[in-house]
Amino acid sequence: MSKLNLVLFGPPGAGKGTQSTFLIEKFGLIHLSTGDLLRGEIASKTELGLKAKELMDQGKLVPDEVVIGMIKNKLASNPDAKGFIFDGFPRTTAQAEALDALLADNNDSISAMLALEVGVEELKKRLLERGKVSGRPDDQNLDIIAQRISEYNNKTAPLKAFYEKQNKLHTIEGVGTVESISNTLSESISKL
Ligand code: AP5
Ligand code: MG
Repeated sequence: MSKLNLVLFGPPGAGKGTQSTFLIEKFGLIHLSTGDLLRGEIASKTELGLKAKELMDQGKLVPDEVVIGMIKNKLASNPDAKGFIFDGFPRTTAQAEALDALLADNNDSISAMLALEVGVEELKKRLLERGKVSGRPDDQNLDIIAQRISEYNNKTAPLKAFYEKQNKLHTIEGVGTVESISNTLSESISKL
């Protein structure tokens, strides 16, 4: 049986992490968030974590080879998974091409990209609000949040066209209650 491999996509604060929690449960998938993996490296004070922290705290992307290496390890260590939710990965064309190649090595592929759409003002509001409690340095001020959004617009948003060319793009309204958005996502996934 082919696996269910979903790219859960969207700008910073779109709700990728929030919705992943629900979807992994419902569809029995493994959650791979490069942001969470990097924050884990920072917490463990690894060399990789220390290097990544400098860039993350400024709202800039870490190098492609770093995140591709982390995803490669996770795919290799979960050979029997029913599928994966990729959250915050891929973020550049190089990452998307590397992911396709890694999956193809196992005769596997991306099933769909689910792209959450949320306006910039709502994103800023959500992230600043979370910054009060999250302890995430990149949530603490509007300049860094704006930098994250700019990295998204310049380097990451073009991936919608990458997956559209493969007929895999599904855009989802990301404003509303968490539950209503979960329902819309589930419906899209069930139709795949
Ligand atoms: P990463 O951790 O991926 O962060 P991000 O994409 O910038 O955004 P968030 O995780 O903050 O948002 P989200 O979409 O998950 O939303 P969430 O559910 O949390 O990346 C951090 C950094 O790591 C990057 O800047 C980069 O430096 C580095 N990095 C990571 N991956 C990389 C890669 N592949 N390549 C290079 N560098 C990489 O929700 C946000 C808030 O909104 C929460 O408070 C939530 O409660 C709230 N919320 C959620 N849904 C709703 C709703 N429907 N209504 C109201 N509020 C809501
Ligand atoms: Mg997240």
